[in-house]
Amino acid sequence: MKICANYKDERKAFLSLIEPNCKNRIILFTGQSGMGKTHLIEACRKDVCKPVYFLPFQFRDTAVGIAEIFWRTGDCIGWKNLPVFTEKISELNKAIVNIKGNTIIGINNQISVILQVEYREAREELQAALTSALFEDLRKLKQSLLIVIDTYEDGASEVKKWISGPFLMRVANTENVRVRVAIAGQEVPKSDIEWGHCCNKHELDGVTKGRYWLPVVKALNREVPEEPAKTFLAGICYAFDGNPMSIMNKITGFSKLKSSNSLKKMGKSLILNFKKLCDISGY
Ligand SMILES: Nc1ncnc2c1ncn2[C@@H]1O[C@H](COP(=O)(O)OP(=O)(O)OP(=O)(O)O)[C@@H](O)[C@H]1O
Ligand SMILES: [Mg+2]
Repeated sequence: MKICANYKDERKAFLSLIEPNCKNRIILFTGQSGMGKTHLIEACRKDVCKPVYFLPFQFRDTAVGIAEIFWRTGDCIGWKNLPVFTEKISELNKAIVNIKGNTIIGINNQISVILQVEYREAREELQAALTSALFEDLRKLKQSLLIVIDTYEDGASEVKKWISGPFLMRVANTENVRVRVAIAGQEVPKSDIEWGHCCNKHELDGVTKGRYWLPVVKALNREVPEEPAKTFLAGICYAFDGNPMSIMNKITGFSKLKSSNSLKKMGKSLILNFKKLCDISGY
């Protein structure tokens, strides 16, 4: 289980995304490296107990293109839920086949080929056309679709341009759509007049109070080296300016608490050894 020190407001905001009457469909988490964006998302994911389509993207170390975002969405919610989108794909694909004179098999390949046209303006038009078709279908979803994008700053510039433009604009403005988006990163999309009204931004600036780390110490079965524990932890928070990664490194260096079972075993073997000693010495 991921135990999260504090970040209560952020966790509440994340969970509010899946409420039916949620006001802000887009949530942004930003902050320096090690502030806990990825940790927070992972902890929140475990808290989601309602049935939702969950679609995570990690941009760190992976080249996720727009085509991939489309086909992973289809795989996640089921292609049968995307009749308008698939129709659009086959329509655009036919046009390309007519030009290129060969057949392209498989919807994933078809999307990739459509979005590979050379001219940027033409590509952006096709991206917008596919996005619009996708959202026509998404409006009919009975279950919420929760899209989570982590390490946004590592995304390709074309992907970021599409997300911060046509994609978020449709998330915010498509009537009754049950698509919710959480984006985390050292950099996040700049709030835009087209979707800013539907967005909540949270700046993660660390966990500076010792008491918030007590449950973490307990969950990790560690022993705070000095009492009072809260004061000792407060000192660590102060030393590391609340940076959760550094604080966590320190906590995992604390010695492990002995479990009650191992204490019992230790007690028994001590008694046994004591008895042996008494026998040998004739007491
Ligand atoms: N609220 C928290 N409670 C407990 N541990 C935390 C918390 N936040 C972060 N950590 C610890 O710090 C480590 C680093 O956090 P994390 O990877 O989430 O940072 P990040 O903000 O995503 O950094 P980056 O921008 O480099 O991706 C985690 O693996 C975890 O051990
Ligand atoms: Mg991260």
